[in-house]
Amino acid sequence: MIAPRRVLRDVFPYQPGKSIASVQRELGLKSVVKLASNENPLGPSPKAMAAYRKAEKLNGLYPEGTSPELRAALARFHQVEPESVIVGNGSDEIIRLLCEAFLDPEDEVVVSQHGFIRFKQQASMMGARVIEVPMTDWTHDLPLMAKATSPRTKLVFVANPNNPTGTYNTQEEVAQLLAAAPKTALVVLDEAYFQYAAAIPGYPKSLPELVREHDNLVVMRTFSKAYGLAGLRVGYGVADPELTGWLDRIRMPFNVNLPAQYACLEALKDGAFVKRAVAVNDAQRASVARGLGDMGFGVGESATNFVFARSPIPGRELFKALLRQGVIVRPLDEYGLPHHIRVSIGTSAQNKALFAALKKVLAGRKVEA
Ligand SMILES: Cc1ncc(COP(=O)(O)O)c(C=O)c1O
Repeated sequence: MIAPRRVLRDVFPYQPGKSIASVQRELGLKSVVKLASNENPLGPSPKAMAAYRKAEKLNGLYPEGTSPELRAALARFHQVEPESVIVGNGSDEIIRLLCEAFLDPEDEVVVSQHGFIRFKQQASMMGARVIEVPMTDWTHDLPLMAKATSPRTKLVFVANPNNPTGTYNTQEEVAQLLAAAPKTALVVLDEAYFQYAAAIPGYPKSLPELVREHDNLVVMRTFSKAYGLAGLRVGYGVADPELTGWLDRIRMPFNVNLPAQYACLEALKDGAFVKRAVAVNDAQRASVARGLGDMGFGVGESATNFVFARSPIPGRELFKALLRQGVIVRPLDEYGLPHHIRVSIGTSAQNKALFAALKKVLAGRKVEA
């Protein structure tokens, strides 16, 4: 057998949330509710889908590689120049591009202990040294992360708000990190859940302000969450044009497919849809958090479209039992949190299904203190 690169021996694949189709196949269930990947339970904006269908007749053609119309629209939206925007196959691709563009083996990458796991996976693939900094109250400890940087640090990853803990860092904390980190280190603010956190007083105003002030900052956003377009795979980064130029140079030639580019252009205009998605999420999240609390879960504050909860029984056991009831949640063993689960916020009907399943699963079980 041909040996892969040595660093790949320590790389473990990302475990995505279980799909509805796989649960239907494996357990023979008809109706399955998925609350495992922080998707928008309302689905996509109808206006975005109309644009997607309109693009059908162009599917025989290659898309334009730089996604120029979407890039220009994002630039207007964020009041930056188009060259500051790099569009990717999900923000996941931007994470990959950052690691491929900036990490030599043995370079250092600073992440947070229970921060979004893709950061350390991708950095390890490049042979970089990943430094994991403990959290404080399930929140990134940015002063400690700043302290962990050195002249060898190339990337500092901060998901804000964070997946899976649902917590966020303030404008002041982020500003202090930017002031304290070496200018030779690139700070990556992953704002996948931005729309759910934007109204919280103190949540950072990263675009365009912070990116204009710091040429060692990248802000990432995605169409996968509040815009409801996870299946189309579109995310983007905003940074100094010199920096995005490196990412543009190494991306796949046609990384974002053509109907996805059209759909996202319309999605960006449909602010009313995003507003409704956030309002539904706010109301449902409060009720899910209350309901879980009443059933003995320890539920943290969330600035996102999911809740992070300590389960009264081991997380994987609960996950498996809920699967048999047709409800998919996310166990967090891969984050080193065997007693926690992450539950995406669904529609009112989906959340009712969650609680009906939980009642059945937890009835009569010996619950740990
Ligand atoms: C913090 C964070 N960043 C990035 C992503 C990847 O999103 P995308 O669908 O844009 O690749 C996710 C998805 O769950 C996420 O939670």
